[in-house]
Amino acid sequence: MSLRIRCLDCGHTSSYYPTRIPCPHCNSQWRQAEYDYAEVAEIWRKELPSRPYDLWRYVELLPVHNPNPSLKLGEGWTPLIKAENLGMMLGCPNILIKDERQGPTTSFKDRQAAVTIAALKEAGITEMVAASTGNVAISYSAYAARAGIKLWAFVTSLVPAVKMREIALYGSQVIKVTGSYDQAKQIAAEFANQRGLYQDMGARTITSVEGMKTIAFEIAEQLTQQLGPVKAKDGSTMWRTPDWYLQAISGGLGPLGVTKGFQELKTMGFAERIPSLAVIQAEGCAPMVHSWKQKLDTPIVVTSPKTYIETLATGNPGRTYNLLRKEVDAQDGVFESVTDEEAFRAMHVLAKMEGISAEPAAAVAFAGLFKLIRSGTIKPNETVVVNCTGHTIPAESFILGSGWAKNVVLPSKEEQQPQEEEGLLAALSRVAPDRFPRIAIIDDSPEARRLIRRILQSQGNFTISEAADGKEGLALIRQEHPDLIVLDLMMPELDGFSVLEALKGDSNTADIPVIVSTAKELTEEEKGRLKGQIQSLMQKGNFMSDDFLDEVRSIIR
Ligand SMILES: Cc1ncc(COP(=O)(O)O)c(C=O)c1O
Ligand SMILES: [Zn+2]
Repeated sequence: MSLRIRCLDCGHTSSYYPTRIPCPHCNSQWRQAEYDYAEVAEIWRKELPSRPYDLWRYVELLPVHNPNPSLKLGEGWTPLIKAENLGMMLGCPNILIKDERQGPTTSFKDRQAAVTIAALKEAGITEMVAASTGNVAISYSAYAARAGIKLWAFVTSLVPAVKMREIALYGSQVIKVTGSYDQAKQIAAEFANQRGLYQDMGARTITSVEGMKTIAFEIAEQLTQQLGPVKAKDGSTMWRTPDWYLQAISGGLGPLGVTKGFQELKTMGFAERIPSLAVIQAEGCAPMVHSWKQKLDTPIVVTSPKTYIETLATGNPGRTYNLLRKEVDAQDGVFESVTDEEAFRAMHVLAKMEGISAEPAAAVAFAGLFKLIRSGTIKPNETVVVNCTGHTIPAESFILGSGWAKNVVLPSKEEQQPQEEEGLLAALSRVAPDRFPRIAIIDDSPEARRLIRRILQSQGNFTISEAADGKEGLALIRQEHPDLIVLDLMMPELDGFSVLEALKGDSNTADIPVIVSTAKELTEEEKGRLKGQIQSLMQKGNFMSDDFLDEVRSIIR
């Protein structure tokens, strides 16, 4: 292995040893791993295609000599999933989700834990200290259990109790700190120093950054498998990389590692483009976002975070801000923040539109995605990868609103009289009454009909019928007399305008409310034709499921 550790301050290089943090020359704690990239590129070109698909296929660029098979938990190579429904809703068809929930402890922190614990085990270390907002300690605990390493986990008292118990279940010692996450880190550091124990140093931990960068390698390989390679300027074929990489951050370790990964791919001649980074913070604890927007060189520290999303509660990012800022600016990326409410909304949209249940911290990235597409920062033709990670436990009832469950209480078998069979049916009819509001969707695109049907069914009960063109639609409306019509404008033969004219000209159908959902940019004349005839106009690719449902509810009420 050609690994050297280079100091970011004085440039001095030395060999790697996990417990040796500061630079032997200038004492700086900020150092980075470097490899013989030409040599590794040659090996990868030959061997990568036949290697198993896990994190360790990239072993030449990891600070571990001999990955120990007995420590492995199936880390790495999480799926890259296309978000078709989000893409249609947002008018941005190439949104992909790097589903880090499918790691061994369901967060992307498994990468840092797998690599760090492997390196510590190799170095003969048997005890370690880490401060965490939950997920880091869970990941470390799982791998530490396999490696026979004792973990002292300092967590803030805001970490959900289920997460704390999971840490303890793995055999780690939980230390609850009533105070901020930054304070928990300080106490953990003092404890480690007093006892002379190895401690996790956040973004200064070489193994953590190196673990995170495998996300970049996988994204490039997976995108290339899914969409094919790209032609480079010199005519050669290269791996495909996305235009954007989005991630919610706390300390900022994740994206720091991921950009290093993309840079290494570029250095080795595997990829040409390094994606723009969009790093998203929760508004109540967004020191990096506010500092970047004010073009500050040092971060404004948030001493008491005001967000429910405790996972992202680093108030003092320190030098990570400067490092990340350099990467963000170099590729025209952005720092952005979202409110807790936006994050919870995004969490719900992601679950009901894509079948992916993420924790609020990951939803912060999705709320950021929605915001950046809407502001035009991310363009419709761009390819976007969003890191989705985290435990999915707290689906808080306030996200769901009222009426999310229906109760059926059945008598026990002993109490039940034969004639009560009928009572059961009566109970079920209370669950689903005979008549729900009826909605007709008239649209020639099957995907558009499916999306609208999904939005309607995801949170509410409607009887939905569909027609694939104007003529069929008119016949359907005359027969079923729905409570609401969702009408497309551009359809072959009888278009939406003509359907509307026919409806309004017939006293039986003139009063049925209509929502027009169209991809067409309307001219003034066309807008005039719709005026007074419809309840609402929704631009396809530019509305969220919740906006649409609100509109439907306000009309049908
Ligand atoms: C689910 C989730 N998202 C995002 C983060 C932010 O991580 P970082 O800023 O260290 O990359 C964390 C940290 O624990 C996390 O658990
Ligand atoms: Zn130095």
